[in-house]
Amino acid sequence: MSKTILVTGGAGYIGSHTCIKLLDAGFQVLVLDNYSNSSPEATRRVQQIAGKTVAAIRGDINDAPLLDSIFSSNDIHAVIHFAGLKAVGESVAQPLRYYHNNVSGTVVLCDAMQRAGVKNLVFSSSATVYGDPASLPINEAFPTSATNPYGRSKLMIEELLGDLHVSDPDWNIALLRYFNPVGAHPSGLIGEDPADIPNNLMPYIAQVAVGRRERLNVFGGDYPTHDGTGVRDYIHVMDLADGHVRALEWLNSQAGIRAFNLGTGIGYSVLDMLKAFEKACGKTLDYVISDRRPGDVASCYADPQRAASELDWSARLGLEAMCADAWRWQERNPQGYK
Ligand code: NAD
Ligand code: UFG
Repeated sequence: MSKTILVTGGAGYIGSHTCIKLLDAGFQVLVLDNYSNSSPEATRRVQQIAGKTVAAIRGDINDAPLLDSIFSSNDIHAVIHFAGLKAVGESVAQPLRYYHNNVSGTVVLCDAMQRAGVKNLVFSSSATVYGDPASLPINEAFPTSATNPYGRSKLMIEELLGDLHVSDPDWNIALLRYFNPVGAHPSGLIGEDPADIPNNLMPYIAQVAVGRRERLNVFGGDYPTHDGTGVRDYIHVMDLADGHVRALEWLNSQAGIRAFNLGTGIGYSVLDMLKAFEKACGKTLDYVISDRRPGDVASCYADPQRAASELDWSARLGLEAMCADAWRWQERNPQGYK
């Protein structure tokens, strides 16, 4: 009997790609999503790609009775917890909504897991917990901080999960600190589908390429980087998805709680990304250098060594695949899942 993984937020961008890797690895997948930032169509396409069935439940991680019924009627081995709100600007305007959804939601989820005796958890954290790093590359021992409610919600969750593990060492918890996920499944069937104007670079560039936006605003041209624009560690979402399967295997080693950077270790600037995307789509893309975006750091990239040695995971796909796959998805689905 294959193991069942409960995937909260499994219809979202990273969750849907991870479902494919889980199915390929022989797990059974149960998605719980309230579709606040996604579509049930994503899970339908995941099934089409994998040629396997995914059980999907529409519901909220804050709904304790629903969680109890899910845990009592399924033999869940572990939970991969993607469900959360993720827009930094929105979190500044609506902090209580972010704390309720992300922090309270995680408390309710862990409470239900504890009642059910399910103590294996993979949590979606973020490189945002490193704040403005004092040096690069960033390793997991760097000090953490937050500059906005979204980032603080991730930090608070990491800390509450630490407390949970102290109270009950039977918990096994992987805190996966993602750098900048981009790209899409190579089929072009699933990808990132922002509900509004994209906040993030890659989906914005893709929408310029497909004609939905006029030009890219490059936020700042005077950073201390090789071309003056911000540098990030972009990681292909399929590599990131693979990291979750490795983390599940690691949980079985009864290793306690540990944070892992999931990044490539390579930093690319905004203009590097734009040029690579132009190559992938065969078009020249318009851009203008505008003011810095408040809260942005100049450079951020991972030291991915811990994940390499302890999870036996490292990123394989390079910038060309990231852009080619993002473009295939965008070109074939100009309006996303709609
Ligand atoms: P996403 O918005 O595409 O996916 C999140 C999913 O969770 C969505 O399908 C949404 O409908 C669902 N959801 C939200 N609140 C819920 C709730 N209360 N109950 C049930 N479902 C709920 O985002 P994503 O990019 O796939 O991110 C997944 C996770 O990874 C998030 O926790 C995010 O904070 C984290 N993360 C993302 C990035 C990134 O750049 N994409 C970087 C670092 C960390
Ligand atoms: N950028 C632009 N124009 C845009 C959008 C972004 O120039 O329209 C620039 C930013 O200034 C930054 C780079 O592109 O230099 C990347 O910006 P993103 O918004 O794509 O990503 P961030 O690094 O700001 O943040 C992302 C997620 C966070 C997460 C963080 C680390 O949005 O939630 O990666 O994982 F915490």
